[in-house]
Amino acid sequence: MTSQSAAVKLRPAIRADAERIHVIERRLFGADAWSRSQVDHELDRLSLDRWYVVAEQREDVVGYCGIFLSPPDADVQTVAVDPGAQGAGLGGRLVDAAVQMAWRQDCTRIFLEVRADNAAALRLYQAAGFTKLGIRRNYYADGTDAVNMRLRRNEPAPLTEVAHAG
Ligand SMILES: CC(C)(COP(=O)(O)OP(=O)(O)OC[C@H]1O[C@@H](n2cnc3c(N)ncnc32)[C@H](O)[C@@H]1OP(=O)(O)O)[C@@H](O)C(=O)NCCC(=O)NCCS
Repeated sequence: MTSQSAAVKLRPAIRADAERIHVIERRLFGADAWSRSQVDHELDRLSLDRWYVVAEQREDVVGYCGIFLSPPDADVQTVAVDPGAQGAGLGGRLVDAAVQMAWRQDCTRIFLEVRADNAAALRLYQAAGFTKLGIRRNYYADGTDAVNMRLRRNEPAPLTEVAHAG
């Protein structure tokens, strides 16, 4: 068995996850990564208006997703999977967990923005049922556009799932 095939569990984040989350942030986002104090700030707000889910494999954090909850709306803050664990459905599991938490907290709409050049994230969010609302030109500091997306509660499932449902 490869290291990737060990079971990955999802659990709510705790304050002690900050260092590991920050390591993944730096690995994935480089100069654009959240600073350690930004990660701390997010986790300090866990019982207020933030919920983070982490993916844990062999007691190591390998992914996370954060959502801002302000019923009736919610906003996906971030989703990230360590490079060695990508492509195995983990991003999808993390986003689904955040979506389910939003519905449990009486949110009815979830928004997010994603870089227009981030094919993996666009695909991930579309697979989770998000649809494109529009484009914000030059949204990011390097001039890249942002794609605004939204998921509504009880939105019809993506076409692929409808096809499977027969
Ligand atoms: C985006 C990210 C979280 C996806 O995580 P993952 O665990 O690899 O995603 P999954 O394995 O669950 O795949 C989800 C969907 O995205 C697709 N996908 C994954 N990587 C892809 C890639 N490089 N290019 C195109 N599509 C991709 C998968 O095929 C899947 O689609 P499907 O359900 O139609 O088959 C991961 O690539 C990542 O951490 N990227 C860097 C951080 C980032 O950009 N985060 C988003 C912005 S905040």
